[in-house]
Amino acid sequence: MITRVSIVTGASRGIGMFTAKALAGVFGHHVIVTGRQVAKLEALANTTDGAMTVAPADLTSEEDRNELYRIAQQCCNSEGHHFFGIVHNAGLLVAKPFDELDEQDWTKMWEVNVLGPAMLTKTFTKMLGDSLGDGYGKKHLVAISSMGGFQGSKKFPSLSAYSATKAAIASLAECWAEELGSVGVHSNALCLGAVQTDMFGEAFPGLTVDIQPEQMGHWIANFFSEQYTFFNGKVLPVAGHDPG
Ligand SMILES: NC(=O)c1ccc[n+]([C@@H]2O[C@H](COP(=O)([O-])OP(=O)(O)OC[C@H]3O[C@@H](n4cnc5c(N)ncnc54)[C@H](OP(=O)(O)O)[C@@H]3O)[C@@H](O)[C@H]2O)c1
Repeated sequence: MITRVSIVTGASRGIGMFTAKALAGVFGHHVIVTGRQVAKLEALANTTDGAMTVAPADLTSEEDRNELYRIAQQCCNSEGHHFFGIVHNAGLLVAKPFDELDEQDWTKMWEVNVLGPAMLTKTFTKMLGDSLGDGYGKKHLVAISSMGGFQGSKKFPSLSAYSATKAAIASLAECWAEELGSVGVHSNALCLGAVQTDMFGEAFPGLTVDIQPEQMGHWIANFFSEQYTFFNGKVLPVAGHDPG
């Protein structure tokens, strides 16, 4: 029996935490959960019966990304474990009107939302290219974008820099499909509508939406693990209504 090893970034809370839970609990992956808040990652991993490995990492640090690769290699060296892919879920939202966003705000969001995932994928290129053997299916990269980064969607005030980074990661997902397709990697971007998480609550205090992170996490895990066969290089809106 082959166990698929997958990474979920930003698994310490919100959508990432529930994506990791569903991947491990429902879809049978061994999940490497990563983020900076180690205690939360450990608490999450303790809810599963050894189906998660905690790998603390700040995605903006090259040293941490390399350590994450080392941990993934270790997991994949276990009998019957094969690397399947990454859910690039970690994200940062600084909500400010355009004329109040300073260079530091732009840089921080660029580093977490675009540069970190880009460099992480680069770090894993070799592992993604390793053969899985006949008949075992493809590998998958999923970039968690936002409706704000989806072309033609209604834009919201205070989300200009965030939306621009989310458009960039969606575009990267299309490019990865092209550049990594020859080694059997599928790559897609999911542009989520609003989900009731800490990020949403901090950006829009007092506002509530009816989509919960459990629901979205399960949906993402299902897409990442099972329902991706006919999707490659796609930027998909995932929102119940418009605007999301
Ligand atoms: N909630 C929404 O309405 C919504 C809508 C559209 C798209 N999204 C996207 O969905 C994803 C998850 O959102 P969420 O609402 O669940 O957000 P969240 O509750 O704020 O969680 C964000 C996660 O990102 C991690 N993270 C942030 N900076 C990091 C860094 N430098 N290195 C490593 N990890 C880092 C955090 O972990 P640590 O603090 O442990 O580092 C945390 O686990 C994000 O990409 C977000 O942009 C959310």
